Amino acid sequence: MKLYLDTANVKEIKEAASMGLLDGVTTNPSLVAKEGRSFREVLLEVCNLVDGPISAEVVSVEEDAMVKEGRDLAKIHKNIVVKCPLIPEGLKATRRLAAEGIRVNVTLCFSPTQALLAAKAGAWCVSPFIGRLDDISSDGMALIRQIVTIFRNYDFKTQVLVASVRHPQHVVEAALAGGHICTMPFTVFLQLFKHPLTDIGLKKFLGDWGAAGRQ
Ligand code: E4P
Repeated sequence: MKLYLDTANVKEIKEAASMGLLDGVTTNPSLVAKEGRSFREVLLEVCNLVDGPISAEVVSVEEDAMVKEGRDLAKIHKNIVVKCPLIPEGLKATRRLAAEGIRVNVTLCFSPTQALLAAKAGAWCVSPFIGRLDDISSDGMALIRQIVTIFRNYDFKTQVLVASVRHPQHVVEAALAGGHICTMPFTVFLQLFKHPLTDIGLKKFLGDWGAAGRQ
């Protein structure tokens, strides 16, 4: 499973990229707005830090405007994947952009029928938001399992990008369900490394080594 960061914060991306474990980045208008910087400038910087797919979302909601915006975003760097919302206009734009060879991440997916439509429109990936479903007492991970099964049944090439991840258990379950990509906040990425027994074990090894007078 590919691991992406869900952030527009360059400092976080730089740190994760330096570990050599980062496969890509997803951004959305809320995350970019939070940074208070030019969208284009942030995207260019991120593309130069991570040699992998970088999702950049259109903010238009009408087909022609989305296609234009998508083309402009794709021109910024070869790593850009254009993000279109899962609405009828968004899928019309997805079909056109995909026909031009532009990779599209269809975002704001909350149901298996939406995912099926995104795949049929030629999306490179679809982003089901599991945390937001859990937030309203729905089962986000059940949606991932349904989409993975549907895509496998019909051999769709569209990848399942597990989004709106809130904690490490979401990452584990996404991998067990066969999600192709999992995008997460930097805090969750750091939590993936942690286990108290690792810290206790390392402390003991180094303590024993030191006690034996080894350098
Ligand atoms: C995905 O691409 C979205 O940016 C994201 O995962 C949304 O997550 P949130 O529900 O934490 O805002």
